[in-house]
Amino acid sequence: MRIAVTGKQGQVVSALLERGPAACVEIVAVGRPEFDLTDRASIRAVLSEIEPDAIVSAAAYTAVDKAESEEALAFVVNAEGPTAIAEVAKELGVPIVHLSTDYVFPGDKQGVYVETDATGPVSVYGRSKLAGEVGVAATNPNHAILRTAWVYSPFGANFVKTMLRLAETRDAVNVVADQHGTPTSAFDIADAVIAIAKRLSADPDMKLRGVFHLTGSGEATWADFAEAIFAGLQTRSGKLVSVGRITTADYPTTAKRPANSRLSNDKLKQAYGIVLPDWKESTKVVLDRLP
Ligand SMILES: NC(=O)c1ccc[n+]([C@@H]2O[C@H](COP(=O)([O-])OP(=O)(O)OC[C@H]3O[C@@H](n4cnc5c(N)ncnc54)[C@H](OP(=O)(O)O)[C@@H]3O)[C@@H](O)[C@H]2O)c1
Repeated sequence: MRIAVTGKQGQVVSALLERGPAACVEIVAVGRPEFDLTDRASIRAVLSEIEPDAIVSAAAYTAVDKAESEEALAFVVNAEGPTAIAEVAKELGVPIVHLSTDYVFPGDKQGVYVETDATGPVSVYGRSKLAGEVGVAATNPNHAILRTAWVYSPFGANFVKTMLRLAETRDAVNVVADQHGTPTSAFDIADAVIAIAKRLSADPDMKLRGVFHLTGSGEATWADFAEAIFAGLQTRSGKLVSVGRITTADYPTTAKRPANSRLSNDKLKQAYGIVLPDWKESTKVVLDRLP
């Protein structure tokens, strides 16, 4: 099976490239300069030439704060681009697996979000990703839209790497303790995405299509996540770093973040039998890969 994935250097695409061979899947990563989400012609030309059995739409404008001042670009990359990919997938007669985000929710719900809960993004990034979901779903019914959250890996830029970098020069780091969600390893996402793409290309059951939540098991605040990272660092190197638990108000950012982005993964479990590992276990796996 051949899967075309958008983006060359992203966290999820890097994990897919690593996990593909063991799953007997050829992963073909497409990205800039020859494939650009702002250029519809490049999307059609590059994806058609690959003749994939499935397309994974993982590339995105992911700079959440910067998106506040680059709204037009964020919408072209996160909404128009994936919609064009879904169109090509439809023409090729193959499924599209599209990555989306917990940031489509406002974050004011008590308890976990399910797929049928009302969306209401509080940032440009969240709105642009929601527009991408709508475009993909309207264009190609043969889709699985996967909302994930708090992605980390040995690749690219992410919270784990930021904490480890700060630990090089500090003994204490202040981290927000009033945003709730679930850290999700890009390796776990990659394994699930491959399994989902395989099922979609073999099974026409509509229960496998639609929007699904895909996050690690368990829940955390960013401060909990930082503590787990520093506990792992201490085990590996002896270095001790403490976490100061602060509030969102103490750490203003350009874009607003949802206070609660805990997602229920029950629908995915029911449809596919997939449950991602506990985020604490997966954090250890990623820490083992970092210097
Ligand atoms: N990171 C998170 O915490 C998080 C949370 C929830 C959902 N998600 C979603 O999960 C998916 C994967 O995220 P990730 O963390 O792997 O993202 P990432 O590491 O930020 O990588 C994004 C990728 O998109 C590519 N890209 C950006 N603009 C492009 C354009 N105009 N044309 C072609 N490629 C372009 C980048 O290419 P270059 O290398 O050329 O820049 C990069 O390879 C995304 O859809 C994201 O919205 C992420």
